[in-house]
Amino acid sequence: MVVKIGLLGFGTVASGIPYLLKENYSKIATLAGIDIEISKVLVRSMDEANRLVSQGNNYDFVTAIDDILSDDEITIVVELMGRIEPAKTYISQALKAGKHVVSANKDLIAIHGQELIALAQENNVMFAYEAAVAGGIPILRTLSESFTADKITRILGVLNGTSNYMLTKMVEEGWTYEKALSSAQALGYAESDPTNDVEGIDAAYKVAILSQFGFGMAIDFDSIEHRGINIIKSNDVAIAKELGYVIKLVGDLQETHSGIWAEVVPTLVPVSHPLAAVNDVMNAVFVESIGIGQSMYYGPGAGQKPTATSVMADIIQISRYLVDGKAIKPFNAYVRPSQMAKAEEVSSAYYFAVEASDQPGQLSHLAQLFEEQAISFDQVLQGKADQGKALITVITHTINRKQLADIMLAIESSEAFILENCFKVLGE
Ligand code: HSE
Repeated sequence: MVVKIGLLGFGTVASGIPYLLKENYSKIATLAGIDIEISKVLVRSMDEANRLVSQGNNYDFVTAIDDILSDDEITIVVELMGRIEPAKTYISQALKAGKHVVSANKDLIAIHGQELIALAQENNVMFAYEAAVAGGIPILRTLSESFTADKITRILGVLNGTSNYMLTKMVEEGWTYEKALSSAQALGYAESDPTNDVEGIDAAYKVAILSQFGFGMAIDFDSIEHRGINIIKSNDVAIAKELGYVIKLVGDLQETHSGIWAEVVPTLVPVSHPLAAVNDVMNAVFVESIGIGQSMYYGPGAGQKPTATSVMADIIQISRYLVDGKAIKPFNAYVRPSQMAKAEEVSSAYYFAVEASDQPGQLSHLAQLFEEQAISFDQVLQGKADQGKALITVITHTINRKQLADIMLAIESSEAFILENCFKVLGE
């Protein structure tokens, strides 16, 4: 059987698909009983098409989506354009036209996924997006299929390859932020506009999608607090190291009695924690559950071939449904009402970097502020900041979100101190 696909976009990831189809032809044909053929490729202009053809890409390039939508031989549309529009319109049209859709578009799925999932169900077609989270790591299918018997209590993830690559180079090679960013862009890890990578937005999109697969809850993207690696200062990296931690951009999803808590924030990870060893462009998803206990899924989170491999896995799964003639199952069947956790139920240790004048009594004054919020210190470090200033670094014992908000306010409104930074600290 020949399954014809229509590609929307021919950028970094899409151009990895022909490689896999060629190199893996016999395995795909044997295992899936199909021959997958790229039938048409949508590009922005004929100039782009001509450029791609001159580079040896001999496909039927088209510039109008209708050429793909009206082609009855195309059963699967693969959207690899990224961002919201026109991807959302094209995917909606393809689903309504009865075509299965594969996408790697985390922005779109995190924000409008529910609408598209409903549209797929109405039209009895599949909407699959394994590549949208952690690139080459087959995490979504693992959560939806292999965790059926288990109950997940927390998911921690290093989910943005660009940030992780940049942090690794800045820490280990002493690169500047700018040098690390341009290298990430040259390697094809960063988005064309890297804002979403470095501000934690891209990782927050992935957290929103993980929430559906791990906890059955489609949470509103705006309820995910996100901060990125752009707020980390070189002092923080050095002090974290001295205290036995590495700083990673960590996505955190946990379920409490009252609901789910979701955030992406720079986090101090103890060097002994498995996530501390996740370096360069690698991603990892660390799952805590009542059955398996702790498990970690590790691999490349970005890049052409890893991401294209996840896209191909979706195409092959859909093709198998087509060959077997079986009823289509949703990509994720776990759905519960969404409920956000109360702030008092979410707790962690925290790192505070506070600038004070280099005068006697400042440390005890700071300790008093923490004591008033019933917060005790686990570790304290004092060093020099700018002229006549001291930088006091504190790691607290576990506090809840309400205490966190209160102590931040207390420090910020105190004339004696400037809050330089505050990060979450993971336990061992
Ligand atoms: N820019 C993304 C990252 C690509 O760096 O992880 C994969 O989503």
